Amino acid sequence: MAYLLKNISNLVTCAQQGKDKGARKGKNASEIGLIKNGNVITVNDRIVFAGGTSALKLYLLKNKIKNLSEIDAAGKTVMPGFIDSHTHLVFAGSRSDEYEMRIKGSSYEEIAKAGGGISSTVNKVRKASGGELTRAAEKRLGNFISYGTTTLEAKSGYGLDVKTELKMLEVINKLNKKNKYGIDIYPTFLGAHSVPKGICKEEYIEIICSEMIPAVAEGGLAKFIDVFCEKGYFSAKDSERILSTGARFGMIPKLHTDQFYSIGGIDTAIKVKAISVDHLEVLKSNDIKKLRKKNIIATLLPGASYFLDISYPPARELIANEIPVAIATDFNPGSSMTENMQIIMSLSSLKMKMSSEEIINAATINGAYALFIQDISGSIEPGKQADLLIFDFPSYNDLIYHYGVNQLEKVMKKGRFAN
Ligand code: NIG
Ligand code: FE
Repeated sequence: MAYLLKNISNLVTCAQQGKDKGARKGKNASEIGLIKNGNVITVNDRIVFAGGTSALKLYLLKNKIKNLSEIDAAGKTVMPGFIDSHTHLVFAGSRSDEYEMRIKGSSYEEIAKAGGGISSTVNKVRKASGGELTRAAEKRLGNFISYGTTTLEAKSGYGLDVKTELKMLEVINKLNKKNKYGIDIYPTFLGAHSVPKGICKEEYIEIICSEMIPAVAEGGLAKFIDVFCEKGYFSAKDSERILSTGARFGMIPKLHTDQFYSIGGIDTAIKVKAISVDHLEVLKSNDIKKLRKKNIIATLLPGASYFLDISYPPARELIANEIPVAIATDFNPGSSMTENMQIIMSLSSLKMKMSSEEIINAATINGAYALFIQDISGSIEPGKQADLLIFDFPSYNDLIYHYGVNQLEKVMKKGRFAN
C-alpha cells in the first residue's frame, strides 16, 4: 500500500526545522511546520516523504514507488493524528445520574463522599467480564477515531483490587494488540485512583506496592504508573512511595495532581522524575516556577474543567514559563465524558487562550512526548508512523474556529484508511 497525498493546501507537519529540540515549549510551541501546497507519501505503515512540490518531483525521480495511489488534497488540511495522552477508556456503566445531581447543585466531592464517584464505577467494573469491558471500550474507540484520535493512553483504576486491576490492564493490552481501527493504546496502572471500601489507606498502599505493582510488572501490562494525588485520595508522600516503587519495577511515573487542591504533588512529580503532571486546574505560580527546565509535560484536561464546571488550568502562564503543554480528553464517566479531541481543542482556545498553533502541537507532538513515543508518532516526517488526518478546509485555523462540527474527512492509521 502506497499513497501520495498531493496539493495539500495546508500540510501541518508539527516537525521541527533542523534538530528536534524536544517537546514544544515557549515560543517554539507555536512552530507547526506548515507547508503550503504540501505533499505526503506513505508506504505501508510509514511516512517516506513530506514536503513541497519541487522536493516531491526530486523525490519521485530518485525513488520508484510501486502502485502509488494518488489523492488530490487541494482545498484540504492534513495534520498528524491526535494523541490523547490521558484517558480512562475502560469502564462499565454510566454515571448520568450523578451528572444530573451536579446540575442540580451537588459537587463532585459531595457525590464521591455520598458513595458515588469513582467507587460507583468500581462496583460496576468488578461485576463486568473482560469481554463486556472490551466490547464497551471498542465502541468508544470508534468515537475516538471519528474525531481524529489515532493513539491514546488508557488507565486502569476502576478495579482497586489485584484481580480487577489486572483484568482492566489485560483488556487494555488485548485491545492494543487488536482493535477494529488499529489505534495504538498505551496502558497505565492507576491502582492508586481511590481507596476501596472496607480497607484503610495504609493497608491498600501496601497491597499496591507489594502485590499489584509486581504482578503488573511481571505481566508486562503497563508502560506507565499513575496516582490520584488529591485531598481524600492519596497524599504527596503516598504518591511518592507508590510512584517510586512503580519506577523500580520499570514503569514511568505520571501524576493526577492539583485538580481540586494543591497538596504538594508537583514536588513529588519532580522527585520521581515523572514524565507528565496532569490536570493542574489549581496549580500555583510557585509550582509553575519549580517545573521550569524539568522536562515534565503539563497535560491539561479542559474537558474536566468544563464538565465539572471548575477553573481551567493556567496554560498561558505555563507556556510563558517554557513548560511544554499537552492537551487530552481525560475521557471518563465521572469528570469528562467525551472522546472528542476537537472539543478539547476548542476549549483550549476559548477557555485557556492558547493559539491554534499551540493547540495543534499540544494535541499531537507534545502528546507523543507525554507517552514517550515522540520517535514514532506525533508529527508528519519520514520514518514516522503514517497516522494522518485529512480535514475538509484549506486552512488549519478553521479547525478551531468552526466548532462543534466534525470536518474530518479521512483518517489514515498506520498507512491504511480507517474510515
Ligand atoms: O481524571 N481525577 C481523578 N480521576 C478522574 C475521574 C474519575 C472518575 O470520576 O471516575 C479524572 O478526572
Ligand atoms: Fe484522569
